[in-house]
Amino acid sequence: MALNVFTMTNLVHRPRRLRHHGIIRNLVRETQITPNNLIYPLFVCAGEGVRREVRSMPGVFNVSIDELVKEAAAAQREGISSIILFGLPEHKDEEGSGAYDEDGIVQRATKALKEEVKDILVIADTCLCEYTSHGHCGTIADGDVANDPSLDLIARTAVSQAQAGADIIAPSGMMDGMVGAIRAALDAAGFTHISILSYAIKYASAYYGPFRDAADSAPQFGDRRSYQMDPANAREALREADLDVAQGADMLMVKPALPYLDIIKAARERYNLPIAAYQVSGEYAQIKAAAMNGWIDEERVMMESLTSIKRAGADMILTYYAREVVKHL
Ligand code: PBG
Ligand code: ZN
Repeated sequence: MALNVFTMTNLVHRPRRLRHHGIIRNLVRETQITPNNLIYPLFVCAGEGVRREVRSMPGVFNVSIDELVKEAAAAQREGISSIILFGLPEHKDEEGSGAYDEDGIVQRATKALKEEVKDILVIADTCLCEYTSHGHCGTIADGDVANDPSLDLIARTAVSQAQAGADIIAPSGMMDGMVGAIRAALDAAGFTHISILSYAIKYASAYYGPFRDAADSAPQFGDRRSYQMDPANAREALREADLDVAQGADMLMVKPALPYLDIIKAARERYNLPIAAYQVSGEYAQIKAAAMNGWIDEERVMMESLTSIKRAGADMILTYYAREVVKHL
């Protein structure tokens, strides 16, 4: 009988051997999510005893400072060591003055966390959009967001956050020169040791919709396309990141995450800085909604998307699922 190349004995290579048993699969797994790599976003608002669920983000809450402290402490007990703070001020104005008020909501929340939760790492999102009456990430001149006048306010915001005790400054406004302006202001104020995690590559994404519910930060006119990036552009993403590296960024972020895995990978290959990716509100809401309808297995989809983000090259992931992930691990 003629020897057939497809007979069993000729099948030397069998990838299935390494999938044969769970312990072998664990042994050869290339990508792991660990609690150390996760950053948990929290939304802090005025009042006391407030814990208000965000309509489009089940499981995510606006919390007053007292509740924030409890939530951060609980997350820390579960294994989360880093949080990023977003603030909902009581009053908004044209210049977003609540962002750089030393008694602002994020500043007070940061002080409370630093006093009451030992060794929690506080990252401050540094932007004006939650504090401006028009909801844009900078001040307005001639109907558009004015770049250079905004830099001064963003830098003041960063310094006031550092004074309150923030460990990392994370500017998210996509203003040209924001990283350089923040670095200079932090250094001048004696915060040479405070690092900058730049939202260097931030797309003008429809996936931010639920966040704007959570942070009450939807622009009141127009949209953010004159400062956030066009989702169609990849080369421009590297240009944005180059500029932030040159201005002194310590870490780079890509946002959103799952629809931009190619960008995460390109950033990973090109830079030696740590790369963060933000699994944004719309990514979270999509998974939640399908899960609540019983259409997908939430835990598995959550882990699969986060693993993909890590596999693409993210060192750190910002995710509303952080607490659920550490429970799962
Ligand atoms: C704005 C900001 C946004 C997010 C964080 N900070 C987006 C925006 O409104 O443009 C989005 C986060 C999310 O969707 O989870 N500086
Ligand atoms: Zn903003």
